Amino acid sequence: MTTASPGDDVPDGGRYGETVFRPEQAGEGERIDFGALAYDDITLARLRALGVGPGWRCLDVGAGTGTVSRRLLDEAGVASVLAVDRDVRFLAERPVPGLDVREADITAPGSVPGRFHLVHARFVLMHLPEREHLIARLAGLVEPGGVLVLSDAVDLTTDRTPTTPYTAVMRAMWQGLRATIGTDISWVPSYPHLLRAAGLLPVAAEVHVPPLVPGSPISRFWADTWERSRAAMLATGLVDTRAVDEAIRYLASDACAALSAGMLTCWGHQPAGRR
Ligand SMILES: C[S@@+](CC[C@H](N)C(=O)[O-])C[C@H]1O[C@@H](n2cnc3c(N)ncnc32)[C@H](O)[C@@H]1O
Repeated sequence: MTTASPGDDVPDGGRYGETVFRPEQAGEGERIDFGALAYDDITLARLRALGVGPGWRCLDVGAGTGTVSRRLLDEAGVASVLAVDRDVRFLAERPVPGLDVREADITAPGSVPGRFHLVHARFVLMHLPEREHLIARLAGLVEPGGVLVLSDAVDLTTDRTPTTPYTAVMRAMWQGLRATIGTDISWVPSYPHLLRAAGLLPVAAEVHVPPLVPGSPISRFWADTWERSRAAMLATGLVDTRAVDEAIRYLASDACAALSAGMLTCWGHQPAGRR
């Protein structure tokens, strides 16, 4: 395991993992795993469709508990994965051959050495205020002929979506996270354009929205995420603690009638002639 030092651009409420989504808070690994259970099959299917397989050297940025990194090795048979995260406690729990772990803040220049056939980041850039700059930096880590794959959240509800306990709390969560740690999903639909602007060609994107079935991984992920962002939500003034509790009960009940935020995955290829 290696280490690198953090960048300087600190939002008012601290950065991801400092005030909100602290890895040392009990249950944070489980929360990330609920998200992984909801999305890993979709992610792996896309990566394999892009040709990721034997011989590939991969970088998993903000790898979390490492579910994608490990499945790349176990199922896609890639040569190696460098899993980078600002806090590697979950990655270090289960070492596997071919998995290298590096503790680094990816906003720090030079935090990731080398170039890779696959550079992957899921549910990471949306939390980082430097995202536009980082897309260009991550594109620069892709070998000629390789691919950059970014996945982040999209919320498909609109102003006309009826107000329910779910929509009220989701709205407060996005606003609260934006005000505290700088999370911003309004950029995510622009990823095809941003990857193209970073010199990748061709680019494409898709969206997956998991069904909000009571007790499902995605429902439990949102309930846990609301608990962890409760203070940020209350600070918006849009909801009170009773509304958050009500939304958590609503999510777990058969009365729930809501559309989950989904995952947009965008990929772009590094032209083979580029050095
Ligand atoms: C929502 S989790 C996603 C984990 C994993 N990519 C997944 O989809 O299951 C975000 C991850 O990004 C990491 N992260 C956040 N900011 C980071 C930074 N500046 N540098 C490196 N990792 C960061 C967090 O520690 C966390 O593990």
